Amino acid sequence: MAASTANVLADCSLTSYLRHPDRALDGRIAAARRNLGRRVLILGHHYQRDEVIHFADYTGDSFRLARRAMEHPEAEYIIFCGVHFMAESADVLRGPGQQVILPDLNAGCSMADMAEFTQVEDAWEQLEALGLAAEIVPITYINSTAAIKAFCGEHGGLVCTSSNAQAALRWALARKPRVLFLPDQHLGRNTGHQIGIGLEEMAVWNPRQELGGNDASRLRGSRLLLWKGHCSVHQRFLPQHVDQCRAEDPTVRVIVHPECSFEVAQKADQTGSTDFIIRAIESAPAGASWAVGTELHLVHRLAQQHPEQKIIPLDRNACPVCTTMFRISPQHLCWVLENLAQGEVVNPIRVPEGVKRGARLALDRMLALA
Ligand code: 13P
Ligand code: SF4
Repeated sequence: MAASTANVLADCSLTSYLRHPDRALDGRIAAARRNLGRRVLILGHHYQRDEVIHFADYTGDSFRLARRAMEHPEAEYIIFCGVHFMAESADVLRGPGQQVILPDLNAGCSMADMAEFTQVEDAWEQLEALGLAAEIVPITYINSTAAIKAFCGEHGGLVCTSSNAQAALRWALARKPRVLFLPDQHLGRNTGHQIGIGLEEMAVWNPRQELGGNDASRLRGSRLLLWKGHCSVHQRFLPQHVDQCRAEDPTVRVIVHPECSFEVAQKADQTGSTDFIIRAIESAPAGASWAVGTELHLVHRLAQQHPEQKIIPLDRNACPVCTTMFRISPQHLCWVLENLAQGEVVNPIRVPEGVKRGARLALDRMLALA
């Protein structure tokens, strides 16, 4: 081993990695990756930056990545370049002998943080007191903590992603007359509307208010209770951004993620998950023009991969970046891999067994939908 490499490995503290500029560690990442071979699987969510995506064995949306983790039982270590709830889901679904690693434990999701377990328990107790809980199936978007997933699993509910939210809603409404949809009100509203639920049959549940800020009759008249959570990246897109893009280019097709508001989704030409957006652009002819309402790294990557099309962000004056996803850096990836090469597992994600059982139930119900 060269002396300089030995020195670096001797100092495996993260700080020593963070001193390096972004692409400077590429050779070391590739070497550690080669060294570990099939023992390691690197998963990268579409919103990751290119320097990280470059090393991913698979890229995908949260649904596809959860499946990838299950399809590779031979990988001892699953390095999840995404956010905390994604790594937790992979830990719930993983096989025996596998470990999931999140390169930076601070990579969270502000939307997932908007539904705290005790708030959901409290909401459920209030719904029980009204005699409504027995008529409700709880559904949680995969962007939630494992504890919330477990709550849903234990109360006859399931997980959904933006790819299968319609199927999940139909599944639930075939069993009970009402749904509590956590934690993204926009995905819940957009999906409910797509399957024919009127806005007047929906109520927003604000966890900071009694009865979620509703009176009992409003709740009794609702089929869909929407938890008051949102994605700070997608909620920033506004209907006027759609108008502006259309005014500048009447041929533009507006495609947005369902975490955008109802007003934006209604004005858009197409709405769907990150995988859906990618497929739509991949199958479009040369010369097509798109305004894309989702995270900026994905939009930039699509624009680079499809120079034959015109692809712009829906709002060109803002920088809709998922700042928590951005925390996963090549420096963190290198740190994790070089530690693994030395037999050290840093930043493992371990969902407690008690939580895992309920969360697995809710995830399995989702996987059975597909
Ligand atoms: P996808 O399920 O489309 O990957 O979305 C996940 C997410 O966090 C979007 O903000
Ligand atoms: Fe969470 Fe929004 Fe980031 Fe997706 S884009 S991980 S919902 S904060």
